[in-house]
Amino acid sequence: MSKKLKVGLFGFGVVGQGLYDVLHKTKGINAEVVKICVKHREKPRPIDKEYFTFDKNDILNNDSLDVVVELTDNADEAFEIVATALRKGKAVVSANKKMIAEHLEELYKIQQQTGSPLLYEASVCGSIPIIRNLEEYYDNDLLNSLDGICNGTTNYILTKTSEENKTYEDALKEAQVKGFAESNPRLDVQAFDPKYKLTILLCHTFGVFVKPEDVFNFGIQNLSAADSTFTREKGLKIKLIAHTSKLGDKIVGYVIPTLISPDNMFYAVRNEFNAVQLGAAFSDKQFFYGKGAGGHPTASAVLSDISALVYRYRYEYKKVEQNGTLPFSNEHLIDVYVRYPDESFLKELNVTDIQQRFSSSETQYVIGKVSIDSLLRANLNERNDVFIAQWN
Ligand SMILES: NC(=O)c1ccc[n+]([C@@H]2O[C@H](COP(=O)([O-])OP(=O)(O)OC[C@H]3O[C@@H](n4cnc5c(N)ncnc54)[C@H](OP(=O)(O)O)[C@@H]3O)[C@@H](O)[C@H]2O)c1
Repeated sequence: MSKKLKVGLFGFGVVGQGLYDVLHKTKGINAEVVKICVKHREKPRPIDKEYFTFDKNDILNNDSLDVVVELTDNADEAFEIVATALRKGKAVVSANKKMIAEHLEELYKIQQQTGSPLLYEASVCGSIPIIRNLEEYYDNDLLNSLDGICNGTTNYILTKTSEENKTYEDALKEAQVKGFAESNPRLDVQAFDPKYKLTILLCHTFGVFVKPEDVFNFGIQNLSAADSTFTREKGLKIKLIAHTSKLGDKIVGYVIPTLISPDNMFYAVRNEFNAVQLGAAFSDKQFFYGKGAGGHPTASAVLSDISALVYRYRYEYKKVEQNGTLPFSNEHLIDVYVRYPDESFLKELNVTDIQQRFSSSETQYVIGKVSIDSLLRANLNERNDVFIAQWN
């Protein structure tokens, strides 16, 4: 029988409390939370205050703790905590996609140097076990593509606005109350959160380390009634899709609202649910579906990582070894719907092959082609007068 793991926990918010809960309800996991580090002294806590500390060193310098579980909401502080814990020989579990995406190559190297494992299944698509599947099941080079609805908040907003005619603001508020929106909603609605997840998936799918700023992301914050009408009239739905694929000897990856037809599996993914579709050479398409956010679903992935540590599991980053030299590229044309303010914008974006144009007193749009590189350079998240969606 393996020894009981003693866990030092950072953060006791939505996911931290969820973890405490599921750990106490799950029989057979050989682990216990011994100490919890949080930030605000004055906050009331639902469990005995003896558990809590406000000094990170009470956990990081405690040699009797085997595992550090990092569930805070600050990426910079989280990186310090995680890097220090790994260097001190502790195994670490984290759900912090921003921190992991921004430091993945460095964290990979620290793991190589120290031999300490870092697991982060909960950082991508909550309860869906996608990273471990990419690592273990798809451990060869047969994958061609990965598409995902990786953000529960935006999928919830898109569902409520399209199916229940709720306003964007009301739907966002509901997602925040339900506990799956990020503390900063810009991370969700401007698609930074799914971009961080895609950055992590790029490493585990194709072995590529990319800086988040090199990955194009555009969210749903500018979605207008005119865009919704266009979508409905065509019998489509808009979903925020993170995409990566291998094209020849290069890897492309980006996050963009995407027009989806009813025969596409993503069409039926509603509310805070997430889904990932993998395209592989011999098995064709495979689809994973599950809750992508919320205290208990996310905590279940954290728990699974803790459980894996009991059996000394670690990511081997096999794709990095196999494909490490494949370049990441934004020189890739996609078909798009573009609602635009004026002709100069279309020129600036270099929209080509325009097949359809529509203009009325309320809206104007074109359907054409644009490169990911132009989209990235256009700083679209800084504008409020444009909506762009990929036309699959
Ligand atoms: N919520 C979800 O559905 C979800 C899903 C997947 C991944 N995640 C990720 O999981 C992490 C936690 O999310 P959450 O929703 O649980 O956040 P949250 O509810 O805002 O809780 C954050 C917790 O972190 C603590 N904290 C902040 N800075 C700290 C520091 N320097 N040292 C110690 N504790 C610190 C806070 O302390 P106080 O209690 O004192 O304020 C709080 O307990 C984030 O990285 C998030 O991106 C969340």
